[in-house]
Amino acid sequence: AGLFLYIERMTKMLKDKSILLVISGGIAAYKSLELIRVIKKAGGSVRCILTKGGEQFVTPLSVSALCEEEVYTDLRSLKDETEMGHIRLSREADIIVIAPATANLIAQMAHGRADDLASTALLASDKPALIAPAMNVRMWENPATQENITKLTEYGHTIIGPNEGDMACGEYGMGRMLEPDEIFDAIVGTLGKKPLAGKTAIVTSGPTFEAIDPVRFIGNRSSGKQGHAIAAALKLAGADVTLVAGPVSIPAPAGVKTINIETAQQMLEACENALPADIAVCAAAVSDWAPKQHDQKIKKRDDTSPPSTELNENPDILKTIANHKNRPEIVVGFAAETENLEDNAKAKLSRKNCDIILANLVAQEGAEIFGKDQGHVYCITPSSVDNWQPMSKSAIAKKLTDTIINSLNNTETLKSAAE
Ligand code: C5P
Repeated sequence: AGLFLYIERMTKMLKDKSILLVISGGIAAYKSLELIRVIKKAGGSVRCILTKGGEQFVTPLSVSALCEEEVYTDLRSLKDETEMGHIRLSREADIIVIAPATANLIAQMAHGRADDLASTALLASDKPALIAPAMNVRMWENPATQENITKLTEYGHTIIGPNEGDMACGEYGMGRMLEPDEIFDAIVGTLGKKPLAGKTAIVTSGPTFEAIDPVRFIGNRSSGKQGHAIAAALKLAGADVTLVAGPVSIPAPAGVKTINIETAQQMLEACENALPADIAVCAAAVSDWAPKQHDQKIKKRDDTSPPSTELNENPDILKTIANHKNRPEIVVGFAAETENLEDNAKAKLSRKNCDIILANLVAQEGAEIFGKDQGHVYCITPSSVDNWQPMSKSAIAKKLTDTIINSLNNTETLKSAAE
């Protein structure tokens, strides 16, 4: 039902847009059938190239039935070449989407190969593609694949995903193709209006690590999933995004300027260097304290009691940005509350001088929110409290982006009314 409502909201968002969808051979190909349906529902047209590998997973018949078009499978097929050559296939599309993109097709693209219809059409293309990788975690992490991905990014293509999760092969890790609605969002984001074009944003994400001595540190379990999703959503809406990220194991979103830091002090400096900006979202789990650092590794000695650590308070990055002389127009913070969510979050809103707080009720979800793909937040502004219900972290990111866009529009309307 969720996806259905979502599609309804998106109806006609792709009106008059033509999408060239390349389906290569991965088990995730079944999701591409749903993607075709979603694009069609939104008013777009889809032409599809199905590779030989792709045909092992979905049939040309189901693809063409959903596209309501012929499906293109063979470079040497006279019919394909006379009626729709490989050049026209890519030139006539508004956007090229490769989903699933196998390690093989990614390698073909990175090396400029043209040995089947898909790779030839992609080589002959005059526009960047949205590439949704899908493969086993080891294949994804293989340096050869990573090098190919870097090359494709340098060539101007956008890599969307992969997600982390259970794989068809029974392993767990990075390599799952994005869900159809996430790919749809990326298509709309690329083709559609860019409401945040010309705006700059700073996003903090992940944990901070505070050194105790050269080998030990104080950290926390933040995965960076929420902050990274917000950076990606703001970028998709057209903002020029600087992501200041603590140590995380997830990849930086495409097209976002990412500054990797370790400590709260470094995070603050990176944020201040990125000012002025129009938007700031502080989603990082910043360590509140930093230990007094020892120059040498503290020795374990049997004859002494465990060492005590002196802690100093870290800078509050959110509060500093929100009270800065170059304060962004919209400043967003997060809160984890165990009780009196509304009162506490409102107090935090004014204490930190921010405009929006996304508050998690920790009593229900606890530290469980760390690392999960789902979240449940309340959106709190000085004049409203809105329960956003449980949803994926990327859906929260999208909803926050929409809220920021509305809020910026309102201030601009007020400003022009006053003039
Ligand atoms: O004060 P508290 O930690 O509850 O506030 C949480 C919010 O403040 C989050 O948005 C977090 O990113 C931000 N924060 C910060 N710097 C700190 C502590 C928290 O930016 N030192």
